Amino acid sequence: MFGFSALFEVLGASKAHRLLEANQQRFAKMNAKTFSMSNMGKTSIYTIEPENVKAMLATHFQSWSLPELRKTAFYPLFGHGIFTNDGAAWKHSREMLKPSFNRNEIGNVDMLERHAANLIRAIRTQQHQDSIDLHDLFFRLTTDFATEYLLGEATDSLEKGAEDGFNEAFEGSMKHIGEVSRIGRLGLLIGRNKFLQQKSYLHAFVDRYVVQALERQQRGEKHTRHTFLEELVQQTSDVVTIRSELLNILLAGRDTTASLLTNIWHILAQRPDIVARLREEIASNLPAEGTLPTFEDLKGLPYLSAVFKEMLRLYPVVPLNSRQATVSTTLPKGGGSDGLEPVFIGKGQLVIYSTYAMHRDVDVFGDDADVCRPERWLDGDDEKGLRPGWAYIPFNAGPRICLGQQLALTEASYVTVRLLQEFGSVEPRDDKPWTESLGLTCVNKFGAKVALF
Ligand code: HEM
Repeated sequence: MFGFSALFEVLGASKAHRLLEANQQRFAKMNAKTFSMSNMGKTSIYTIEPENVKAMLATHFQSWSLPELRKTAFYPLFGHGIFTNDGAAWKHSREMLKPSFNRNEIGNVDMLERHAANLIRAIRTQQHQDSIDLHDLFFRLTTDFATEYLLGEATDSLEKGAEDGFNEAFEGSMKHIGEVSRIGRLGLLIGRNKFLQQKSYLHAFVDRYVVQALERQQRGEKHTRHTFLEELVQQTSDVVTIRSELLNILLAGRDTTASLLTNIWHILAQRPDIVARLREEIASNLPAEGTLPTFEDLKGLPYLSAVFKEMLRLYPVVPLNSRQATVSTTLPKGGGSDGLEPVFIGKGQLVIYSTYAMHRDVDVFGDDADVCRPERWLDGDDEKGLRPGWAYIPFNAGPRICLGQQLALTEASYVTVRLLQEFGSVEPRDDKPWTESLGLTCVNKFGAKVALF
């Protein structure tokens, strides 16, 4: 009666790696796009109604904040930064970050090439018995790229291989934080000692960069490139403040893009038809063999862009999100006998939205919503490709829309094109369907096991 059954259901589905699907089925079972459910005496509202999401993220933005539970889960490792701040502090974090994401910075793909080349080299040396799991390599790649892009110095973990401790500590602590975000404060007890060790390691790791940058600043020297770290040391000399902002943005830059790449390559290996069409598009746009793609080349590949849109639709790397009401308010839909009237929301109410379930809603995407069909995004002769508006939000939307969207898509497109150029044959080494592994982001539990020749 206190909603323990709901907790057990969540724990059971989570253990079976079916939480997203179970949640999606609940909407279908209840024949509703918005419902409330009790969990350990607390009632949460669940919604997949685009108008409600639009109200929380944009039209009534001021009436909503990040959920307290996110702050509880993130704070020990990430401190105060863009993913935990609201109000003026959030605005300040966002303003500081913005210059790092201008067109000139993102369009400079030379830096990407060095990391893509390291990836290709690692694949060639590590592929044993014609099989490799790209998951681990993609996480190293995005760590290396994000550290170089944001801190001015790459971890180069693709070159260091197993000696790199950063990725292991990051991965472990993400699992712990994901657990707390999903099941609440009880989760703080799960794997606590290990988490504390990983947290200390990561703080010391980032502090090293911070101290070096502060020393450079004191000597009046500048890094050769203007980075986010340089921006931060001009604003403050407080190590904890700088470390927190950096860890927040490393989280944003690392796990998301690596999860996207892993999901894509798991599916590509199982879908030779998609790979063949991608190869055709690349060959006709980059005719000279071995031509490295430029930023403009990547923009001119509509099928590649449709593949990314479709992967982020079916496998959104941030599949669940939530907001908490800061005042009593309403959501546009979910009330009345037909669910089409506004619904009252009391101050403090948590509202959870499932991007995963929204992106598979047959009312928006049609009866084949569960099918991976990139063509649905392409303009035809008489038909426009999909424009689902607020029903499709892989990067969120409104004032807190992902700042790294263009950077992530450029990075993932560049790497995908380079791998297809480099390896003429892609074969699956795993026939299992995509299965959720939920940390703070979501990735295929079985990675991306492929053979590349
Ligand atoms: C496939 C890759 C990515 C996806 C799907 C993605 C998705 C998202 C989502 C859903 C949010 C909203 C979180 C929330 O408000 O609750 C977000 C926020 C954010 N993302 Fe991304 N992201 C990706 C890559 C990146 C990258 C590479 C960076 C930067 C290096 C980045 C930087 C940010 C930042 C700074 C925010 C916070 C914005 C704010 O609160 O104002 N993201 N992202």
